[in-house]
Amino acid sequence: MTLAESFTRSANRYDLLTSLNPGYHRELREAAADLADGLPADADTLLWDLGCGSGLSTRALLGAAPQASIVGLDSSAGMLAQARAKTWPAGVRFVEGTAESLGGGALSEEPDGIFAAYLFRNLAPVDRDTTLRTLRQRLRPRGRLVVHEYSVSESRAARMRWSAVCRGLVVPLARLVGADPALYRYLWRSVLENDSTVRFRRRLEEAGFTDVRVRTGRGWHHGILHTYLASAPEAAA
Ligand SMILES: C[S@@+](CC[C@H](N)C(=O)[O-])C[C@H]1O[C@@H](n2cnc3c(N)ncnc32)[C@H](O)[C@@H]1O
Repeated sequence: MTLAESFTRSANRYDLLTSLNPGYHRELREAAADLADGLPADADTLLWDLGCGSGLSTRALLGAAPQASIVGLDSSAGMLAQARAKTWPAGVRFVEGTAESLGGGALSEEPDGIFAAYLFRNLAPVDRDTTLRTLRQRLRPRGRLVVHEYSVSESRAARMRWSAVCRGLVVPLARLVGADPALYRYLWRSVLENDSTVRFRRRLEEAGFTDVRVRTGRGWHHGILHTYLASAPEAAA
């Protein structure tokens, strides 16, 4: 089964499981606010939400930039069906496709901002670099990228806390609510194997982003969840 099929299989349990994660929505809202900060707040503003899933990150973006047009992209038909079933203003639309191919060319405009929450760890390491380069080229000059992602490889304490939460809560809860526990075992493992924050920052800089910063989350997310902020240069390189 592909990853997109695994997400589709558990898509109708995704919102329930995230609602049981204390601080999940707060952290998404704060990351979306980081993206909106400094962008023009008008109807011409275009944002992309890559790996939008069931639309929770799209909703956070809309809260931070209510006038913006937003395109959510995801490779899982089932996650997109969950997103599309929600109520959205006219400026929000959803596209099926991979982030690596930008939906097979379906995302043709130049966005002001790009959000990617819990996406990049799912890309093969080499695709992280090529995708970041493409995003930097496609962003408008001074456009912003925010990547929100788990990373624990720099801290033994963070790895132990992450494994304890996955073993004791995430995988059992997934089983209890009828989601596929294999997808949540993949979540556990993929975070343990994910880039360190130092490595991901370097990827951003090597892709040509400027003003790269990273901050960590609050509560149990501290040291586990990280938000990277980066800008496209003034003139495309
Ligand atoms: C953990 S969910 C996050 C959903 C949403 N961003 C949120 O914050 O709730 C990860 C999403 O990324 C999507 N995804 C994984 N790999 C992808 C890829 N290569 N291209 C596009 N979407 C992908 C999955 O289908 C899934 O919906």
